Amino acid sequence: MRVVDIILKKRNNLPLTKEEIHFIIDGYVNEKIPDYQISALLMAICFNGLNREERINLTLEMLHSGEEVDLSKIEGICVDKHSTGGVGDKTSLVVAPIVASCGLKIAKMSGRGLGHTGGTLDKLESIPGFSINVSSEDFFKQVKDIGIAIVGQTANITPADKKLYALRDVTGTVESVGLISASIMSKKLASGAHSILLDVKVGDGAFMKTIDDAKVLASSMVDIGNSCGRKTVAMLTDMDQPLGEAVGNSIEVIEAIETLKGRGNKDFTKLCYEISAEMLMMTGCAKTKEEATSLIKEKIESGEALDKLKMMIIYQHGNPDVINDYSLFGKAKTDILVKATKTGYIEKIKTLDVGVSAMLLGAGRAKKEDKIDPTVGVSVKVKVGNFVNSGDTLAIIHSNGKNEKEAYKMLQDSFVISDNFVKEQDIILGIVK
Ligand code: URA
Repeated sequence: MRVVDIILKKRNNLPLTKEEIHFIIDGYVNEKIPDYQISALLMAICFNGLNREERINLTLEMLHSGEEVDLSKIEGICVDKHSTGGVGDKTSLVVAPIVASCGLKIAKMSGRGLGHTGGTLDKLESIPGFSINVSSEDFFKQVKDIGIAIVGQTANITPADKKLYALRDVTGTVESVGLISASIMSKKLASGAHSILLDVKVGDGAFMKTIDDAKVLASSMVDIGNSCGRKTVAMLTDMDQPLGEAVGNSIEVIEAIETLKGRGNKDFTKLCYEISAEMLMMTGCAKTKEEATSLIKEKIESGEALDKLKMMIIYQHGNPDVINDYSLFGKAKTDILVKATKTGYIEKIKTLDVGVSAMLLGAGRAKKEDKIDPTVGVSVKVKVGNFVNSGDTLAIIHSNGKNEKEAYKMLQDSFVISDNFVKEQDIILGIVK
């Protein structure tokens, strides 16, 4: 087989065989095929796509390029939740404790944030002492003991994805349904969960800008997951405004704790309940939405869900007192108010720009090696459709001085206020099963 023939085949819009896909992935991981040939192939895939069989074969080849986590040692149903990435997305910190308190097992490997989107690991590390580096043995023990662990990668999973993603990032070949599906699903399958809930974000702050594109991606991932024997469901959810209020690290953990105490922001609480309910239904823990919702309410009201988070913090060496004393997180030096410059309805919040302003303040990384400042970020005080008077607070910047002026200007410009009535946006946009 010659790589150039495979590139030409895809350039001519012909489907690749299982053997050809194996040849490519194996050759690339083992450094027998250079970056420039893989780049050409990736670009041809971006233009001509991958059919269903190619997507499944590519996912499986990437999955088999590394280790797979074997969760069969854990009794019960292991369930995973994955978000395609958004601004203020602290959903896992609420949903994981809720479903764990309902009896499901969460053995989750999360990622770090890059660019305008945050990462669960960075958020958890804002808890004093909290460790995401857990040995494989301790990881399994923790899930067996308390039903929940969220850690950094413990195994060498999907090395093919690591190499391909880094190359796609610098060759303009990220945006391809086939490539994104294989990248995400190979990692999810390698993590070993029996059931997978995908939260596919749609809008300005997400990869997928339109509902139609998001549906295509969601259907592709659900199809791959189900055909590989894992029950997979995708929810399409709004990312045309930041999720909840907080965009940062410690402030997002505080918002997650407040939500577990039953005092969360309305939209964010709704999202957490809907995702948790779907996870309970897809695993057979609840037969109907009503049954799932009343179980979730019970676990929030009794404090059992919050207790799961507390236990996870204890097992992972964090200080559990943060749950009742937020001052233990530390605080940014200055709070700066961003105010409305006119009266009217919030028509649009440029979500990507809100994420970038938090990143500029130090809440995220522009480059992999950048260091996170856990205390900085942005609290967004309004939602699309809200009426505001000139001078009302739209957002608060929590700053330690880094890029403060630039972040302020970007945040101020991210709110669009209209004289006309604007309808509130729904957070749940669809579901693909
Ligand atoms: N997230 C991933 O893990 N992979 C992609 O290709 C895009 C988003």
